[in-house]
Amino acid sequence: MSESPINGYGDNLTVFGTRIGDLSPDEHEKIEKKHGGFNYKPLENVVVSHVQDSSTLICRKPSNNDVEKYIEEELLDGLCCYSAVNQGQLNQTIVDAVIAHLTKEKLPTVPRSIRHKYMSAFLLAISNFTEMDRVIPKVAGVEAPDLMFKIARRWGYKIKNIEKDKAIIVGATGNFHGRSMTAISLSDDPDSRHDFGPFLPGIELVPFNNINALEKLFDDKGENIAAFMAEPIQGEAGVIVPDDDYWPKVRKLCDKHNILLALDEVQTGYGRTGENFAHQLYDIKPDLMGCGKAAGGGILPISFVAGRDEVVKMLTPGSEGSTFGGYPLASVVGVYAVKTIIDQKLAHNARIRGAQLMQHYLGLKEEFPDKIKEVRGKGLLTAFEMHNHNHLDGHKVSVELLKRGVYAKETHHSTVRIAPALTIEAWQIDDLAEAIRDVVSGL
Ligand SMILES: Cc1ncc(COP(=O)(O)O)c(C=O)c1O
Repeated sequence: MSESPINGYGDNLTVFGTRIGDLSPDEHEKIEKKHGGFNYKPLENVVVSHVQDSSTLICRKPSNNDVEKYIEEELLDGLCCYSAVNQGQLNQTIVDAVIAHLTKEKLPTVPRSIRHKYMSAFLLAISNFTEMDRVIPKVAGVEAPDLMFKIARRWGYKIKNIEKDKAIIVGATGNFHGRSMTAISLSDDPDSRHDFGPFLPGIELVPFNNINALEKLFDDKGENIAAFMAEPIQGEAGVIVPDDDYWPKVRKLCDKHNILLALDEVQTGYGRTGENFAHQLYDIKPDLMGCGKAAGGGILPISFVAGRDEVVKMLTPGSEGSTFGGYPLASVVGVYAVKTIIDQKLAHNARIRGAQLMQHYLGLKEEFPDKIKEVRGKGLLTAFEMHNHNHLDGHKVSVELLKRGVYAKETHHSTVRIAPALTIEAWQIDDLAEAIRDVVSGL
């Protein structure tokens, strides 16, 4: 028998003659530039290899001698996969559940056209955790806002009696809901939209955190508006936290005009902001909520839409579906992702560690008022924004942090978001803050 072109695990993984452990950071970059797309521009001269502990990665950097291909260093994960790893890298509870179900429990892979026993577990876990009536499982984060968009339109026609094809979904400026056609149709970010038109009709944007603009739009066009869809705190826009009274006022306006409130909690959910879901910070409840990222515990891509009975009920057979949405493995991981947030009190930890990080930020702002313009955050979804000067460059901050063993990434020219795992410990927050202080002082 001829030997397979693909063999081995980890560094010994050998693919058509190339052993992965033999590649330098430069060689990885060359392969990506030759065979990948150009839709990402990753940090240079660093390749993540494996996990050290829940908040620490081992990465490879160029070696300064001719003998080794690379050196290995620890990297404190200040981003945790854009909040997909709230439960910490390789959370043991979730990993144990995966291994036990794949081996001992002989987990099948079947589609939704036949019932499997783990779906009940998933639906019970998510409906209880979200305090919502119904749940529709999906896979990627972007599928959650996409589906909320569809459900809201159908509800608009069937329940609100909006004239056929006239439904409007309102979004907020500066939003980020992903990269699908629906998400970029809602977006006002030129990079994500350029040359992808024509866009979906029936969309209006209002400035985020501006209740008067929303009220005016609802007064003018409320009859045709099915939903206002937004992130409770805008993550990708640079952690934009609205005024405390914004969401309660939005909720009231939506009720007044019979408009659904659809919140995209893909980034803010699962304990990130110090509550299980960010809308709980404002004591309101949406009609629809989309989650993703940490819904899969950083182990699998899992997303879902949860919502009120009357609204989610709009979906009928054939109108929506997903081969891998809620398949047995996703159901098990989804259940254990919830269990971990609850049992390990991760929302509480986000609140405590977030407050600790915020104290450091405030100290930084006081020490460098000419550099730091604003510090923002709820729980462990945080950012600091620098003044708009060339030398106060967010990308440079990311590169300099990397040299000091911290992974973080700018969101805009002058804003850096820090959102570590919710399992992070006090000393790691201090280390993170010390690295940031060191970098900022040198700018
Ligand atoms: C609020 C929000 N919605 C949707 C998405 C899209 O998620 P995904 O990239 O998993 O499709 C993101 C990703 O950052 C997000 O932050």
